[in-house]
Amino acid sequence: MGRISKNLDRDIVEVLFTEEQILKRVRALGRQITRDYRGRELVLVGILRGALTFLSDLSRSITIPHSFDMVGASSYGTSTASSGRVQITKDVEVDLRGKDVLIIEDIYDSGRTLAAIRDLLRVHHPDSITMATLLHKKVERRAAELDIKYVGFSLDDRFVVGYGLDFAEYYRNLPYIGVLSPRVYEDNGKATP
Ligand code: IMP
Ligand code: MG
Repeated sequence: MGRISKNLDRDIVEVLFTEEQILKRVRALGRQITRDYRGRELVLVGILRGALTFLSDLSRSITIPHSFDMVGASSYGTSTASSGRVQITKDVEVDLRGKDVLIIEDIYDSGRTLAAIRDLLRVHHPDSITMATLLHKKVERRAAELDIKYVGFSLDDRFVVGYGLDFAEYYRNLPYIGVLSPRVYEDNGKATP
């Protein structure tokens, strides 16, 4: 694992959102979703693997009956720059017909992943599809401009890890969200897609 420190905290140059701040925000989103989806057939569909942590906390903050499933998508490989292509690696298994789907994503960056998953889920004929993202990156050029109803936090265009977000599959276990030191991905020369 190259330059990744044994103590993961050492690779973080700035903590953007603490564990406490994240849980507080996720619980508020859960209350809002609980109100909005009362009397409806809610299914949370999380995008593997980054949204796993968010989905887990969010689901426990929603008090109405609901189910959840996961879909798989990968666009980043092990680099910090989007490859520009989204590969679907796993489809949903629960029946979405007549359901109100809420897609759960970790971060809205180029928007390609969310757009691809939304298109995939449309084929399953749910009654509605709405989107939630924990993080909303302010980027200059967006490949897909999407209307995301539930947003945890907005942040500048920096590469962040923790609370499910990874670099090369590591750092997902950090309980907070922080900016990764460029030292980790720059010096090995290959920050290419
Ligand atoms: P998009 O398709 O360009 O919107 O990228 C979304 C995916 O890229 C997310 O699901 C993440 O896996 C990954 N990603 C984008 N920005 C970051 C970041 O700052 N840290 C870690 N992963 C990121
Ligand atoms: Mg990722």
